[in-house]
Amino acid sequence: MELVITDNAAEAGVLAGRIMADHVRRGARAIGLATGSSPLGAYRELIRQYREQELSFLGVQAFLLDEYIGLPAGHPQSYAQFIRDEFTAHVDFTDSDVHSPDGRAADIPAAAADYERRIAASGRISVQILGIGANGHLGFNEPGSSLRSRTRVKTLTPKTRADNARFFDGDLNQVPTHVLTQGLGTISDADHLVMIATGEGKADAVAAAVEGPVSAFCPASILQMHPHVTVIVDPAAATNLKAVDYYRFAVQNKPAWQSF
Ligand code: F6R
Repeated sequence: MELVITDNAAEAGVLAGRIMADHVRRGARAIGLATGSSPLGAYRELIRQYREQELSFLGVQAFLLDEYIGLPAGHPQSYAQFIRDEFTAHVDFTDSDVHSPDGRAADIPAAAADYERRIAASGRISVQILGIGANGHLGFNEPGSSLRSRTRVKTLTPKTRADNARFFDGDLNQVPTHVLTQGLGTISDADHLVMIATGEGKADAVAAAVEGPVSAFCPASILQMHPHVTVIVDPAAATNLKAVDYYRFAVQNKPAWQSF
């Protein structure tokens, strides 16, 4: 695992976007997208590179981590709509190449199985961008999620619903209680996991995920079991990390031949 502490949140987003762009330029057939606020800077960087540096997403499949269950089609907070508004509609992605779990399906377990099949059919996901919940969730794998889980329904914790109420006009009652989410096993199948966390509110979760025990009660600690992980944090999110000096030393002394 490589841990990069950037000077500020904006730089964290740019670095995450550059890493994703490099995968696309190297011929990624599929990439994994997250929603929420953490990856927005990365998406801005990808949009910039599309406009200014001929980055193209034509022929690339994109897979979202998760989706709320029960929101109507086109609801601005459905993740399928959110990712269009914030990212994919601003570049040359083909709409049908942007996939998300079907949170409106009559048969939710069948929709979960179908999503796993779609990911498998795409070949491997080259790079998966991730945020982290303040409670350590990854995707919507809440504390207690099996470390080998696959796409399935999860019940959101009260903490996550309260955190996400900001996207629903601050109204907790509008936040769905259930979601479809890639499992921790599904996420772990991607070649390169890039997690971005900014702000003091993420400091405990980042420290637990990176330096704490691997545990279903901190789902993001599954990153410790993956062979290729880049964690990008701003100084506020790094506050509770113990090995900061080492992380900084490793990045400063990164061999010229070694990419992220
Ligand atoms: C979103 C997702 C979640 C978020 C996490 C952090 O697709 O899977 O795990 O990444 O809740 O959310 P933000 O970035 O809004 O703090």
